[in-house]
Amino acid sequence: MSASLSLRRLRQSRLTRELARGTRVLPEQLVQPLFVVEGLRDREPVPGLTGVYRDTEKTLLTQIENDLERGVSKFLLFGVQASKRREAFDYGFAARQIAEVRRQFGDSVFLSVDVCLCSSTEHGQCGVLNADGSRVLNRETVDELVRAAVTYAQAGADCVAPSDMMDGRIGAIRAALDAGGLEQTLLMSYAAKFHSRFYGPFRAAADSAPKGLESGVSQLQDRATYQIDPGNARDALASARRDAAEGADILMVKPGLPYLDILQTLSREIADRPWAVYEVSGEYAAIELMAGEGLLGAGGAGPAHVEAWTSLVRAGAQIVITYGARNGREWLGRK
Ligand code: PBG
Repeated sequence: MSASLSLRRLRQSRLTRELARGTRVLPEQLVQPLFVVEGLRDREPVPGLTGVYRDTEKTLLTQIENDLERGVSKFLLFGVQASKRREAFDYGFAARQIAEVRRQFGDSVFLSVDVCLCSSTEHGQCGVLNADGSRVLNRETVDELVRAAVTYAQAGADCVAPSDMMDGRIGAIRAALDAGGLEQTLLMSYAAKFHSRFYGPFRAAADSAPKGLESGVSQLQDRATYQIDPGNARDALASARRDAAEGADILMVKPGLPYLDILQTLSREIADRPWAVYEVSGEYAAIELMAGEGLLGAGGAGPAHVEAWTSLVRAGAQIVITYGARNGREWLGRK
């Protein structure tokens, strides 16, 4: 009689489970998003995102100081400027924050910066519109994104991360960075960014919801003409291939959990670049809301966040952008 296979033998104790495990999440893989808002008097909590704030210029720096003490040294910064326009945008506000972070923290932080127009425009679209507000113009938008990316890189960003989804922006930004003596600046592409409902809490934080007709200047109610349709996996593959070919150093899938299949496929198809995944605001908030309702039991939100991160790493991500990064060391039980 052959010995029967026991799968439970390796599940029997914490120590056997630790040995058998194939996926481990490390705090060093996590990236913490930060919001800094021009003209804000006091920092404000972001609804749904426990422990995340819309920071003032001052509190941004104390937040980073606290994060460094908690072992978090990688950030994705969103600059939210006060004046909203339709064109001729001014990237000075975010650039000044980048320079100040660099001055104060030097090489102890890795600072990536989101490059997009949505929190700078009156209408909340991620680009420059045509005259009647019915379309986002690709070339005009890319020209602006290039200006923003070069400005942020000059101010000291380690990495620029275009999240707009225009055609050709990766190649254009790479060329401009290289021409400007910024060949060391990393380029992280939101390559597989879907047209998702899970961005809700973020849009309040970044003041970037598409305002549609009520803006008076836009006929577009949403971002479906440039973000990827949730049912179109092929488009995500084409977008990631294109951005890799145009010179993206890091590729991203966004959101995370609803797109695990995409992350797994793309990270295998394009295996010569690191993959990032953005656990977006709605995903993060969903876990926090469950915990708030007492639906996650005594352990609360932490173990559920760790489970979500584990699935993202298991699917192929090296980098996890998450609002919970600053709790990573605690939740992952690591010093
Ligand atoms: C903007 C941008 C978005 C996010 C990051 N940059 C979403 C959007 O299209 O509104 C989403 C992040 C999140 O939900 O956490 N272009």
